[in-house]
Amino acid sequence: MNTKLTSLLNDDLNKLKTILTPLISENLNATNPSIHCLNLACGRADESGILRDILAPLAQSLKIIGVDIRERELDIARSRWRSDPHTEFSFLYHDATKLHLITELAHPCNIILMRHQNYWNGATTWQKIYDSALNRLHPNGILIITSYFDKEHLQALKAIQQLGANLTISIQNPHSRKLLDAPNKSVDRHIAIFTRPETNTPFS
Ligand SMILES: C[S@@+](CC[C@H](N)C(=O)[O-])C[C@H]1O[C@@H](n2cnc3c(N)ncnc32)[C@H](O)[C@@H]1O
Repeated sequence: MNTKLTSLLNDDLNKLKTILTPLISENLNATNPSIHCLNLACGRADESGILRDILAPLAQSLKIIGVDIRERELDIARSRWRSDPHTEFSFLYHDATKLHLITELAHPCNIILMRHQNYWNGATTWQKIYDSALNRLHPNGILIITSYFDKEHLQALKAIQQLGANLTISIQNPHSRKLLDAPNKSVDRHIAIFTRPETNTPFS
């Protein structure tokens, strides 16, 4: 990756971190000293570093699990993000519509991030992914999504709420970087936080 692109991506991540840091500390109600975080549909998992920076001070130990179906991107993630005594990283090749089959996710997740969720690319699949994610969420946990464009974000908000989740907040990123090759799309353009449906049977 060239240095200009790396610098742009790092800027994007710093902007996301600035928004997520207060949102997570205000909304995450983790009573357990160990925090479990799922980075769902993580791709290369560029956001691993900011997740660690934000969550590490809130936990005695931190587990960050990335899940995706693109092996090449997962390999890049594995080569970049290494566990340390406080934070354990793992990157799993798995279909996110079937999270209940992942033994590493037997423990409820305190926080699930879907950065640049992709509802536009297949509503049925993404409805299943959202449902699967909500079923892995701790009763006090939070689900965070970010979206590239307005219409996709609104559709995702509706779909997730139709699964019974409660929308806590949805904000537009004032410093979102426009994608030059994709009009009306920008990086982490919208960010929303949900809590899980109260009626959901945990871990169904
Ligand atoms: C728009 S990309 C976002 C990647 C990353 N979170 C980011 O912000 O750069 C959507 C991701 O969803 C993943 N994906 C799509 N369907 C999936 C599925 N059924 N299970 C797991 N990952 C899936 C894709 O492989 C892709 O990495």
